[in-house]
Amino acid sequence: GKKLRIAMLGLGSVGSKVVELVTKNSEYLYQRTGVQVEIVYGLVRSILEEDKKKLAKNYQFQLTDSYDDILSDDSIDVVVELIGRVSPAKEYIVRALKAKKHVVTANKDVMAQYAHELLPLANQHGVTIGYEASVAGGIPIVNPLKTQFSLDTITSIRGILNGTTNFILTKMLNESLSYEEALTLAQELGFAESDPTNDVEGIDAAYKVMILAQLAYHVYPKMEDVQIDGITAIHPAQLAVAKQFGYKIKLLGEVKAIGNELSLRVAPALVSDQTSLALIDNETNALQVNSTQIGQSFLSGPGAGAAPTATSVLADIQALIEKKELGTSNQFAPVFFENLEFTFLAE
Ligand code: HSE
Repeated sequence: GKKLRIAMLGLGSVGSKVVELVTKNSEYLYQRTGVQVEIVYGLVRSILEEDKKKLAKNYQFQLTDSYDDILSDDSIDVVVELIGRVSPAKEYIVRALKAKKHVVTANKDVMAQYAHELLPLANQHGVTIGYEASVAGGIPIVNPLKTQFSLDTITSIRGILNGTTNFILTKMLNESLSYEEALTLAQELGFAESDPTNDVEGIDAAYKVMILAQLAYHVYPKMEDVQIDGITAIHPAQLAVAKQFGYKIKLLGEVKAIGNELSLRVAPALVSDQTSLALIDNETNALQVNSTQIGQSFLSGPGAGAAPTATSVLADIQALIEKKELGTSNQFAPVFFENLEFTFLAE
């Protein structure tokens, strides 16, 4: 039968969740598509024998610290890159594409800055890059912009694109925490980046704005094209005064078309209490898409976290399974499920 063989790069919180979800769903996916999904390798940085044993107990696949082994294995279809940051992740992605392996990644730093180079490279080698998880974690937005919205004209996308800063602003206002206390809490809860500079200075949100602009307008802006202000200068007194006048201060990312020009911004903004965006508190993310045909769409949900982010990674893996499945001759053959846990209400 057909197989989709995966190599995992990075087995941190998102990576290990992807392994868990692939394992949990492989039987269902096989029943549905006839494609067997298998994780074959896990690439981890220099493994101590000691750790190898510990990890081997948890995982059914081969742990390696040699990326060359993975690239030279022609049976590997997909490289799932969850290392994060640019180096060495970007180089790993380039090498995977050149070896004709599909890539699925959550890496916003890389896709924001190098999509113009990576997407044509993928094309040239007949493979694809899935990056649903790179913007707003669990919220479906990357693939919808490629499909649902692709024939619509997007006039603007505005959103709360960074969980850490939204959390900090919420705690400063509602619980009178200081900026530092709120940031420490966000780090403890695990949604701040390991170095939170990119979060609080608006860089993380800017990467997402760049990716949204790519998807909505087929352009490849540079970081300098985004006007960026973070939240480091926001004082609790400003939040309180804004509240008195019926506003919240939110760090908003915005992509906006004005005639033939695109305005790309990340900045703290006054948002009226009456609006949907003002209701998005704590680490939750949200996106408001304005387009000519659909009108206004509003999506909100978890912008980080292992399970939501891993679920978006799985969505891209599923798309690859469907690609494989389409190659089979019996693509329309009915599939019967024996272990459905649903009852039919009509009966
Ligand atoms: N540090 C990011 C955030 C995680 O706080 O939203 C997802 O990019």
